[in-house]
Order: sequence, then structure tokens, then C-alpha cells
Amino acid sequence: MDQGHRPQVITGNWKMYKTLDEALTFVRDLLPSIQGIRSTVYLAVPYTLLLPLSKEVGETSLFVGAQNMNDASEGAFTGEIAGKMIKDAGGKFVLLGHSERRRLFHEDNAFINRKVKRAISDQLQPILCIGETKKEREEEQTKEVIRTQLCEGLAGIEPQSLSDLIVAYEPVWAIGAHESATAEVVQEAHRFCREVLSELLSQPLADQIVIQYGGAVTPSNATELLMQSDVDGLLIGGASLSLESFVKIIHDSNQLNP
Ligand code: PGA
Repeated sequence: MDQGHRPQVITGNWKMYKTLDEALTFVRDLLPSIQGIRSTVYLAVPYTLLLPLSKEVGETSLFVGAQNMNDASEGAFTGEIAGKMIKDAGGKFVLLGHSERRRLFHEDNAFINRKVKRAISDQLQPILCIGETKKEREEEQTKEVIRTQLCEGLAGIEPQSLSDLIVAYEPVWAIGAHESATAEVVQEAHRFCREVLSELLSQPLADQIVIQYGGAVTPSNATELLMQSDVDGLLIGGASLSLESFVKIIHDSNQLNP
């Protein structure tokens, strides 16, 4: 299957930014400027914004989701949030295994795997984030890291329940950096992700899975990245905080949609 058959999915990751007022203003301005577009737009927002924003977006091509969740269905886990609470608040998807969670909060592949399973049982679409550090790339371990993160992150899950999985390839060295990875580096990594996915799941399923790139995406590099045959969308941090740059990237992706 070529890229033409996969939808472009653009996800903004707001991290720990935006109050309710700021978020509502953003979304109210965003909605009219993406009316009628064919790309799907996701916003991964702080938990406090899930309910008000999901009410605000209603039935549009904009969907809100969370940036993390716990692996338990509920329990005495002070400060944590359950998948069913995200779902209850109108969340459609959840980012899992973002490198900031892996690095700052010591999340390992086994924990992330349990979260993927829980997200699926709570009917949340998982966006599994993977990617190598600078040191791992320099030591030529990139493929090994990608393989391990995918295999361990998706271990023990029925392939059929992963049909709406999104994988986000985010090299840690490119996140928040001055420049993104080059289109060539990104395409090579995405192609490899798809190869591993086809071994793990099946070729037809792997061909269907959206693989997003993330790391220093801006309006000036989005088109070139999206033109790569295995790049089906973007996961955008910094540039999703400004309405102007986010809308520009969404419009650029829309041009490339089937
Ligand atoms: P960035 O962040 O676009 O600011 O590099 C991407 C991410 O962390 O998902």
C-alpha cells in the first residue's frame, strides 16, 4: 500500500501549556480555519482541558486526547489518571511512552506496554511514541532501539486490536531542537518501523498504520517531511502552541492528502 491510502493525521502536543481561557480561544479560532480539510487533527492537551475542549469541538475533524494515563483501571494511585476517566471526559486518544515520560518519569517499555493494553480496553486510540537518543544514534543502535520499543511496547496484544494504533517516531535528539531530523533520516526510520510492524502484526495491517514524525517540526519543514512515503502525519510540540504555525502545517498536510 502506498502513502495515498493512509490518512494524514496531525497531532499537536501541548505538553504542560495553556490555561482554559487560552485553550478555548485557540480552539475557537482553529475550528473555522480547518473547516472542510481532509487531514485529521488531534490535540493532546492537559487533563483539565479535556472536558471543556471536547464539548467545544463537537462533531468536527478536530479531536482531543491526553498525553499520558496510568495502566490500572482505577485504584489508590495519588495524582494519576485512568483511561476510562479520559474517555469519560471526551478524550479520543492518548499519547503513550513520550520520551519526556520515559526520561523524566522513568517509564519503561513494560509499563508502556501495560498502558497500551489498558488504552485499548478503555477504547482510547493509543499513539505509541518511540525514538532513539543522540548517543544511541551515534552508536548506531537506532534500529535496535526502534525494534525493542515496538516489540516490547506492543507485546502480547492481538494484532486485530491494533488496527487504529498510531506510532509516533520521535528521535529524542530532535525534540525541542533547533532543527528536525532530515527527511531522509525520517523516511529510513519510518520504513524500518513499518518493517517491524509487519513482522509483529501482518503486512496488510502494517501498511494501514499511521506513522507520525515528531521533533522540531515547523511550517518550514512540514511539507518535506510529509512528502516521504512512510510519513503519514506529524506530532508537533512547540509549533502547535501558536495558532498561526499549527494552521499552516495542517493546511500543508491537507495539500498532500489523497
Ligand atoms: P517539538 O516537540 O515539536 O517541540 O520538538 C515534539 C514532541 O515532544 O512531541
